[in-house]
Amino acid sequence: MKPPKSVYVCQECGAQAPKWMGRCADCGAWNSLVEERLAEPSAAPAGGGPARYALGGGSGARLYTDIQLSDTPRLSTGIEEFDRVLGGGIVPGSLVLLGGEPGIGKSTLLLQAAAAFARKVGPVLYSSGEESEHQVKSRGERLGVGGAPLYLLAETCLERVLEEAGRLEPALLVVDSIQTVFSMKLQSAPGSIGQIREAATQLLFTAKGRNLPTFLVGHVTKEGSLAGPKSLEHIVDTVLYFEGEQHHVHRIVRAVKNRFGEISELGVFEMTGAGLRPVPNPSQLFLAERPAAAPGSAVLCCIEGSRPILVEVQALVSGSLYGNARRMSIGIDQNRLSLLVAVLEKRAGLSLVGEDVFVNVAGGMSIDEPAADLAVVAAVASSVRNRPVRQKTAVFGEVGLAGEVRAVTQAARRAREAAQMGFTRCILPRGNLDPRDLPPRDAFEAVGVGSVAEALDALFA
Ligand code: TYD
Ligand code: MG
Repeated sequence: MKPPKSVYVCQECGAQAPKWMGRCADCGAWNSLVEERLAEPSAAPAGGGPARYALGGGSGARLYTDIQLSDTPRLSTGIEEFDRVLGGGIVPGSLVLLGGEPGIGKSTLLLQAAAAFARKVGPVLYSSGEESEHQVKSRGERLGVGGAPLYLLAETCLERVLEEAGRLEPALLVVDSIQTVFSMKLQSAPGSIGQIREAATQLLFTAKGRNLPTFLVGHVTKEGSLAGPKSLEHIVDTVLYFEGEQHHVHRIVRAVKNRFGEISELGVFEMTGAGLRPVPNPSQLFLAERPAAAPGSAVLCCIEGSRPILVEVQALVSGSLYGNARRMSIGIDQNRLSLLVAVLEKRAGLSLVGEDVFVNVAGGMSIDEPAADLAVVAAVASSVRNRPVRQKTAVFGEVGLAGEVRAVTQAARRAREAAQMGFTRCILPRGNLDPRDLPPRDAFEAVGVGSVAEALDALFA
């Protein structure tokens, strides 16, 4: 058999080589050669040029005003939390990547969604390259898949998967996982960058060409270092990631890219014996184990995607044994923490030079909005002074280098969530103190602060 036609292309300079080499002969970059398929002249469509897909039905450009806004309804996955992360459901013809560490629950979530989708909308093809049909079914029994029109296919060859998809004409295709499928058009092993990209591109053409929504599962390692899923991010429409650790009972799915919805939207699930169960009230979950009146703990009202969530930010400050004090954080950017510690030293007079500072967001959440600053400041100050933050007090606000507290977005929604969760007091930026939107005065006290020093006074008053 003639080997398939492919070349190895340097990803740095574009040079081509007939076989793999550790170093590009042209630019000298190491380990930059990736296998790519040569365009086959015989397979080119009638019009010539490379294969293409049309996003709209039309041929050629159309006038802006002539284009009708069709509101194609979104298709529900039957799992409300999952629909929320997707931006309100599955968009027909979209390609969605679900990434996460091995064992975190990707297959479980997609099998549940596939079953619910099959029951409500239409047949689903679930193609697994990792488990046999029996293994998938035994999992499905725990999840209560039942008699839904769900087709299972244990296959790693991409062309076979696409053939089955053409034969069954499902309403949804799931490929678990993109690292295990390989295209016969390339020689490199499954999981290599060339194969992953080729498979994703072919699936993209199928998704758009047949209007077939497709889910891809992608594994990432702890460091997120596996190049596969990362290099896929720009090909697909939506990227969802499982966040946090598999040792927590609950799982957080976050949208990090979405062409059809809000990013950083998140869905919260709990892993149970019968699969993933949506958590309707995440604030309650994240605050459930909060120690009462413990120093070093502050409650933050953050906005994740389209909804406010309360989380606990914890800090521990302890004398450093070795000359250079450490600033370590989980769930908060480490540089941000160093910056806030410096602000506390300089602008609020706290002495942290010889102290290790550890900060953690309870429950495995990670927060990257600046509104978390004031909660970090509160938790660290509380630990240093060994005094708890005042009871039933929540905080949010951005902190600047001059020690000023800056306004943040959607303050009223944050405050209302705090009031709803039983908090009676909220420390917030003075710039956000607009009485019109805040919760009613009689049951809830909103304290506007302009600087870190003022905030600390209000927190420990
Ligand atoms: P899985 O979906 O196989 O992970 P991934 O596809 O991301 O590699 O999830 C496996 C984990 O979930 C495993 O540790 C067992 C656990 N699990 C449950 O706790 N309950 C269940 O009902 C199922 C199906 C799995
Ligand atoms: Mg799996």
